[in-house]
Amino acid sequence: MADYPIAGSPQPLLPDLSRRAQPHELPELMDQPCSRDELRACLRDVAWLNRVLFGYRPILHWLESLNPTSGLRILDIGSGYGDTLRRIEQWAKGKGIAVQLTGLDLNPDTAVIAAQASPPHSTIRWITGDVFTCQPPDPPHLIISSLMAHHLTDSDVVRFLQWMEDHATHGWFINDLSRRPVPYRLLYAFTRLMRLHPFVQHDGPVSIARAFRPEDWHHYCAAAGLNPRDYTLRGFTPGRLCVARQKTGSRP
Ligand SMILES: C[S@@+](CC[C@H](N)C(=O)[O-])C[C@H]1O[C@@H](n2cnc3c(N)ncnc32)[C@H](O)[C@@H]1O
Repeated sequence: MADYPIAGSPQPLLPDLSRRAQPHELPELMDQPCSRDELRACLRDVAWLNRVLFGYRPILHWLESLNPTSGLRILDIGSGYGDTLRRIEQWAKGKGIAVQLTGLDLNPDTAVIAAQASPPHSTIRWITGDVFTCQPPDPPHLIISSLMAHHLTDSDVVRFLQWMEDHATHGWFINDLSRRPVPYRLLYAFTRLMRLHPFVQHDGPVSIARAFRPEDWHHYCAAAGLNPRDYTLRGFTPGRLCVARQKTGSRP
C-alpha cells in the first residue's frame, strides 16, 4: 500500500443516497482508460480494503453453508485483482475440496495483473470478456461477483441476474455494497486516512452512491423473473449487501 496524497471531494460530502446513481451519472476513475501499472496500483488497494474490511466473509460464509464436494467449478465475474478467487482457492485447499476456479473480467489488463499477483502453485484461470457475451466453456456450478454489480445500469443488473440464472447450474452470489450514509462516510474517511490510491479515494464513496438497498434487489429480482423465496438478501458489516441464490434441491 502506497502513501498517496489526500484527494479532493468527488461530490458533496454526503450526496442524496435515496436513489441509486447510475454509472454514467457518477463515473468511476478505474473504468476510464489508464495504464496497466495505474490499474494494478488501484486494484491492489481495493484488494487491501477487501481484506481489512472483511470483504471475503460473505462469500466464504455462503460457500461454507453449501457444504460443497470436490470438483466444484466457480466462475467469478469482474474478478479484478483476483483476490477473491485466491482467497477461495486457499479456503478450498484448507477443506481438501478440489476446485476449478475461473475469473472473467472486461478489462484485458486484469488477466495479466491477477495472474502476476497469484502464487506459482495457483491453478486459477483468468479470462477476458464481457459477461453478457460470455459462454462459459464448462458450465459453472456457482457464479459469484464482488463489487461488480454497481458497475452496471439498472437494466443490466436485471440482465446479469438472468445471465447467472441461465448459466449457473447450482447457484450464484452477488457481493456488493449497501447504499447508506454510514458506509459512505466510512469509506470516504478511511480511503483518505489510509492515503489509498487516488482512484480508490474517489471511487470508494462513488461506489456506495451507485450501490443498492434491499428494495432495489427485490425490484431487480422480480424483473428477472425470480420469486422472493428463490433468493436471500443479507447485509454484512461494514457496508456490504449480498444476494444469494441456491437452486432448489441442488448441492454442488
Ligand atoms: C471494482 S472492480 C471489482 C474487482 C474485484 N472483484 C473486487 O472485489 O475487488 C469491478 C470489476 O468489474 C469488471 N467489469 C465491469 N463490467 C463488466 C462486465 N460487463 N463483464 C465483466 N467484467 C466487468 C471491471 O472491469 C472491474 O475489474
